[in-house]
Amino acid sequence: MTNPSFLLRRCNAVPFMRFCVVLLTLPPSLLAGNVLITTSLGEGSHYFVGKTIGKYLVRHGHNVTVLVSEAYAHRADNPEDSELNFIVFHQSTEQIKSVKERHLAFSKNALEPSTATYIINLMQTHRQGAADDCEDLLGNPDVMHQLEDGKFDVVVYDMIWLCSLMVAMKLNTTAVLSSPMAVPTMLSMYARNPVNLAYTPDCMNGYTNKMSFLQRVNNVVANQVLFQILEYMHGPFNTVRERHQIRQDLQGSISDLIGTYTDLFLVNMDFAVEYPLPLIPNIITIGGITARPAAPLPDDLETLMQSSGDGGVILFTLGTYVTHIRQEFLEPFAEVFGRYPQQKVLWQFVGEPKFKIPPNVKMMPWLPQNDILGHPKTRLFIFHGGNNGFYETMYHGVPAILIPLTGDAIDQGSRLTHQGFGIVLDKTNVTVDVLDDAIKTIFNNNSYSEVAKLLSARLQSRSMHPGDRAAFWVNHVMKHGGGYMRSPLIGLNFIQRNMLDVLAFFLALVSVILVVSFYSIRCTLSFCKQKCISSSKQKHD
Ligand SMILES: *[C@@H]1O[C@H](CO)[C@@H](O)[C@H](O)[C@H]1NC(C)=O
Ligand SMILES: *[C@@H]1O[C@H](CO)[C@@H](O)[C@H](O)[C@H]1NC(C)=O
Ligand SMILES: *[C@@H]1O[C@H](CO)[C@@H](O)[C@H](O)[C@H]1NC(C)=O
Ligand SMILES: *[C@@H]1O[C@H](CO)[C@@H](O)[C@H](O)[C@H]1NC(C)=O
Repeated sequence: MTNPSFLLRRCNAVPFMRFCVVLLTLPPSLLAGNVLITTSLGEGSHYFVGKTIGKYLVRHGHNVTVLVSEAYAHRADNPEDSELNFIVFHQSTEQIKSVKERHLAFSKNALEPSTATYIINLMQTHRQGAADDCEDLLGNPDVMHQLEDGKFDVVVYDMIWLCSLMVAMKLNTTAVLSSPMAVPTMLSMYARNPVNLAYTPDCMNGYTNKMSFLQRVNNVVANQVLFQILEYMHGPFNTVRERHQIRQDLQGSISDLIGTYTDLFLVNMDFAVEYPLPLIPNIITIGGITARPAAPLPDDLETLMQSSGDGGVILFTLGTYVTHIRQEFLEPFAEVFGRYPQQKVLWQFVGEPKFKIPPNVKMMPWLPQNDILGHPKTRLFIFHGGNNGFYETMYHGVPAILIPLTGDAIDQGSRLTHQGFGIVLDKTNVTVDVLDDAIKTIFNNNSYSEVAKLLSARLQSRSMHPGDRAAFWVNHVMKHGGGYMRSPLIGLNFIQRNMLDVLAFFLALVSVILVVSFYSIRCTLSFCKQKCISSSKQKHD
């Protein structure tokens, strides 16, 4: 994900020198906050976003430690991340196997249709497994002592693995939530941000912000279902919390505590592409935090890029999750890529392909995605719809073909087609014809790359890089706390929140006025009538 040459480049640049000087002259209190990042066990987009926040915090002068499971202990040895400290917590061989299997379950099952049985099975496995991991962490006295000795000022935790929130609670530090996904409805639920489902599509339903009546009905139902599912998934964490007596003085379940304990919410979305909605001040958008100017490519890749001539390069990756995709799914890609000999194709692929590879295709187990997307020769990005890849392709103005495989990818797909910088394909129907059509359409119609360029300019027109923004705000709540920014909805009950009491009061008032008016008019009328009758009687007399 990150490349050391990027940091070197920044250090040589004049603005960074100025930044260094500013840092050196800052009062010591601004320096060296101790930050703990615990956004996942050490894999997936949750890990990469957390780690990236950490790297920016280091550049802003903080001491950053990342907590990972023994299942991903190799993270600690990555020379690209040498500026970060790592703490690895022990897990049994059995549990490490379970961690990896749970992770691979996403890739192995990515092509299965999302039926109820499939989803329920996936949920069951993850629910208990995540709590067992938590037990391994909180029940390990050595690691807990090490964490306590770390004297952390702030813990950056993950919105899904809530064990990480309990670490912050146990250490009694400021807590910052990191959301690698752009899920405004889910985040709003936790942060008690007022959310209006009339124009905010719920996550994973793929709607835009213009919904028909039935879509809005569905949106409300989906939102409730999601809430119940999350409550169910968080259940075992409450048991773990009780067993370890973690801050029993704090009221509420673990999901309630996300809203009441957290000082800051960092969410990987940007209004350059996100549907507008109001956000309370402690929700900070850091959309595209992993996207940055391209660093120079390794020599072999650079030579390959240049050899593509005017045709340019297609980048194809199914991301870090997808290492176990069925080969049959990939065959049409190889066949179609062969039909574009004027283009070179870079394909991220792990293992041995069992199909024929056309001469213009180069397969590699790992590719520096951001740096290739930022290369002037790159023409098209074909990917699985991960949020980081989505922002990286937009940042570099490259049109995309998106094949939503799991989770929130369908939402990225909805934004992609809504904005018009790419095409979404159905994962159950990626045939040679469908794929060929999509590539042809993007190459023959300039509108996709023009929109991509516009969005790129829009995304980059901002006061600071999202990484610096994240570091700024983490530093801010470390010093000043974030309680003053918490949602005013916390502490209001259903009636107060929806102003039902006020509505009832006004209804009563209007009813009283109507009744009084009705009777006074009736009275006046009947009085007039009597008057009229008596006066006409007098006339007759
Ligand atoms: C930075 O954090 C690590 C790990 O918690 C700790 O060992 C080290 O002493 C800290 N360094 C400073 C300067 O506080
Ligand atoms: C947590 O820290 C605050 C000060 O930051 C302190 O007032 C409070 O007593 C601590 N709570 C516990 C349970 O340690
Ligand atoms: C697959 O896509 C093609 C082209 O869009 C379409 O004609 C066909 O009906 C689709 N098949 C299925 C099973 O959805
Ligand atoms: C190009 O694509 C845009 C957006 O999808 C569409 O509105 C336009 O009609 C297309 N132009 C041609 C010539 O097909």
